[in-house]
Amino acid sequence: ALSTTYAETQGGGGETHQVAGGEVATLTTANGHPVADDQNSLRQGARGPALIEDTHYREKMFHFDHERIPERVVHARGYGAHGFFELTDSLADVSRADVFQRVGERTPAFVRFSTVAGSKGSFDLARDVRGFAVKMYTQEGNWDLVGNNIPVFFIQDPIKFPDLVHSVKPEPDRAFPQAASAHDNFWDFVSLTPESFHMIMWTMSDRAIPRSFRTMEGFGVHTFRLVDAKGKSTFVKFHWKPKAGLQSVCWNEAVKINGADPDFHRRDLWDAINSGDFPEWQLGVQLFDEKFADKFDFDVLDATKLIPEEILPVRIVGRLVLDRVVDNFFAETEQVAFMTQNVPPGIDFSNDPLLQGRNFSYLDTQLKRLGGPNFTHIPINAPKCPMAHFQQDGHMAMRNPKGRVNYEPNSWGPFDGGPREDPARGFTSVPAAEPEPKIRARPESFADHYSQARLFFSSQTPIEQKHIGDALVFELSKVERPDIRARTVSHLRNIDEMLAAKVADGLGFDLPKPAQAARPTMMDLPAS
Ligand code: HEM
Repeated sequence: ALSTTYAETQGGGGETHQVAGGEVATLTTANGHPVADDQNSLRQGARGPALIEDTHYREKMFHFDHERIPERVVHARGYGAHGFFELTDSLADVSRADVFQRVGERTPAFVRFSTVAGSKGSFDLARDVRGFAVKMYTQEGNWDLVGNNIPVFFIQDPIKFPDLVHSVKPEPDRAFPQAASAHDNFWDFVSLTPESFHMIMWTMSDRAIPRSFRTMEGFGVHTFRLVDAKGKSTFVKFHWKPKAGLQSVCWNEAVKINGADPDFHRRDLWDAINSGDFPEWQLGVQLFDEKFADKFDFDVLDATKLIPEEILPVRIVGRLVLDRVVDNFFAETEQVAFMTQNVPPGIDFSNDPLLQGRNFSYLDTQLKRLGGPNFTHIPINAPKCPMAHFQQDGHMAMRNPKGRVNYEPNSWGPFDGGPREDPARGFTSVPAAEPEPKIRARPESFADHYSQARLFFSSQTPIEQKHIGDALVFELSKVERPDIRARTVSHLRNIDEMLAAKVADGLGFDLPKPAQAARPTMMDLPAS
């Protein structure tokens, strides 16, 4: 039968051939050769052996065989969308970052939300932390704010990250469980790592089962620095506040949703954007200086701590709107490469050891995952501002220097000598303090692991507190070894006695002794 755009014919095997014509393009190989028959491979006689000279078949199968790239080692399951960041309150007084100068200006952005522990094909409503990674294509280069929906992290030192992730992923012999927190290895590791207990309180709370990506907060977690034109630096914590409000589901709802629609969150984001109900967040900052930081018993460089908003209110400076779904999931959401070290001039790092460790890890992991050093040439990763440098070659190079010169300094020029340094615009770091001796140790200011866990638990409503207790009983009931269960409860005793008692009761054992604290918690210290 003939349609207006293509002809359909039947082959000898009854298969359908849809033939190019009218507005329908001709199918080609990757090398541009028109393809006459895409239903039958080339054979020596209809019943004969396949011929190796069938370059169309060979190329098609070769490409298919290479379709998979490694999934992200963490945050493998994610979903992204395009949008923009709009500045509503200038930060020019504290930062020279171009993105923070002009109120009303819009900066294109791409956001990827994710779960952390599950594999690429896992379900959306897992009890887990959610990634909230934002790439802003600023006029002075890309800014990646690679955050989570929980304001603190499990560990203080990046050297523990591989252990944390190994413990949370399926166990190496049995390759299960897929569920993040429901197993011996995870609880064994965290119960031997008391610094994780603040984050454990958050992950056992309703925060870890959000209703939608649109109803999650986001946090930069670490203390960063903003730097003004004179080089003066101000500490900053970044916050994303959802316009739709903060909403979660209950555990029983999560379990049902996972069965009925494992794609619940991605479908929700896709539908919201396509129906014009654009998700929106406010960007907020907590700004402070060294003197303010010194007032706390905890360390602002410790990623297991937050600065309570009651003590330091969040100043809203912009909004993030997601208004366009991707054209292609792989090209954009899968190939997007976030890296904490992507900061434009005017935004800088603090000495948070976890942040410093991350700055090393992300470049390394992208090289492996995206197959070479030229992943910034992929459109989703390429800056949208002018770029000029002398990097060249390597696998998949798309953007080599033009002309004769690929080094500097050089005496060609001024027009054919290529780009030059720009001290007025480029990155200049704030002078560091005198170097101290090399040491493997944590400061005393990192030693209180329970006070903020208690602060979080006590900030919850009674029903939310019950959810935390129920979650702990459920997750720990999957743990086979009694000593791991008991050790976990021994930490809970340093957070809340009632909670510890309820969890021990729910699991059917007597309360163990409280875990020995590395340092008395702040609430136990005599008032000064
Ligand atoms: C993804 C390392 C801590 C947020 C990743 C990936 C690695 C990694 C290797 C995979 C990246 C990729 O293949 O594209 C680390 C290390 C950490 C750490 C070494 C600590 C030492 C954190 C923390 C946060 C975080 C504290 C939140 C503040 C994310 C997010 C992604 C990610 C959101 C997914 C990015 C995306 O959507 O593509 N991390 N991470 N990570 N990490 Fe971390």
